[in-house]
Amino acid sequence: MFVGPSRRTISCLGNNFYSVSKIRNSLVLQNRRYYAKKNPDTPGQVVVVTSGKGGVGKTTTTASLGYGLAELGYSTCVIDFDVGLRNLDIHFGMERRIIYDFVHVINQEAKLSQALVKDKKNPQLLLLAASQTKDKTALTEDGVERVLNELRGMCDYILCDSPAGIESGAYHAMLFADKAVVCTNPELSSVRDSDKMIGFISSKSRRALEGKSPVDQRLLITRYNPERVANEDMLSVKDISDLLGNIPLVGVIPESNDVLLSINVGRPVICTKTNASLAYADAVDRLIGVEKEFRFITPEKKSLFSRIFGNK
Ligand SMILES: Nc1ncnc2c1ncn2[C@@H]1O[C@H](COP(=O)(O)OP(=O)(O)OP(=O)(O)O)[C@@H](O)[C@H]1O
Ligand SMILES: [Mg+2]
Repeated sequence: MFVGPSRRTISCLGNNFYSVSKIRNSLVLQNRRYYAKKNPDTPGQVVVVTSGKGGVGKTTTTASLGYGLAELGYSTCVIDFDVGLRNLDIHFGMERRIIYDFVHVINQEAKLSQALVKDKKNPQLLLLAASQTKDKTALTEDGVERVLNELRGMCDYILCDSPAGIESGAYHAMLFADKAVVCTNPELSSVRDSDKMIGFISSKSRRALEGKSPVDQRLLITRYNPERVANEDMLSVKDISDLLGNIPLVGVIPESNDVLLSINVGRPVICTKTNASLAYADAVDRLIGVEKEFRFITPEKKSLFSRIFGNK
């Protein structure tokens, strides 16, 4: 004899159906939302990627760290502070999708949500592009602070790609930072300029001015070539650490031709399957507090075949 479902079963089924539709609705809502913040109650951290010297790999680093954090599920916004020389957008292949930029938002000519561009592959990643204006006074302390505060409420991480030097763009990029990734190349002039930048952040950041805990500064060495270090053509990790004092190392990125190739196809280096990509992934882990061994800092052992025929 068929016994129909009990009242209890029906009510369970009813609840299940209710939960399924509830989950579906919340997924729909989540998709409609710009992105999901991993820690909704904690304000996002502002991280400046800076150097002092030009051309050392700040923008390449911002793109890869930003993408890596977003891949780990952190809602992340990367901001280009290089007013007049926009190029962070190129690293994400987003250059044709920019209508409004950072300066439009500062001047309240556009809302932040109108200027943010979502990455095609990773919706957790947003870009706020630099303005092409030649006006060097376009960034203001109040304006930058307002935009960063709005982003702190929306994102887990806000990465500020600093221009070189210590002029307006670099000053505003580091002013409100909680963390700094100081990029340097294994050469003396680059290390000296990074040293200056470390001092600049320690004394001129908002945290320093307000007597708060200092900006958490980390060192990232880019374009490292262990073979040239072994030949004493380049400074070693230890030489650089000795010159810069006790600043913790967050990454050592090997010199690689793949970096230029990936920029040319509009994808951050971290998306490639190369040593540079693995080194950037390690740096992302260290940035969020995971301990990792350093790789690619000693010369690769060559096989007998390579030694005979000179291939890598
Ligand atoms: N690990 C690397 N190996 C080889 N080339 C690299 C590496 N990192 C960066 N580069 C190259 O160095 C050049 C400068 O990189 P990038 O634009 O990221 O530097 P930057 O510090 O942002 O420069 P700027 O000060 O002008 O803003 C680019 O041509 C890039 O391809
Ligand atoms: Mg740059």
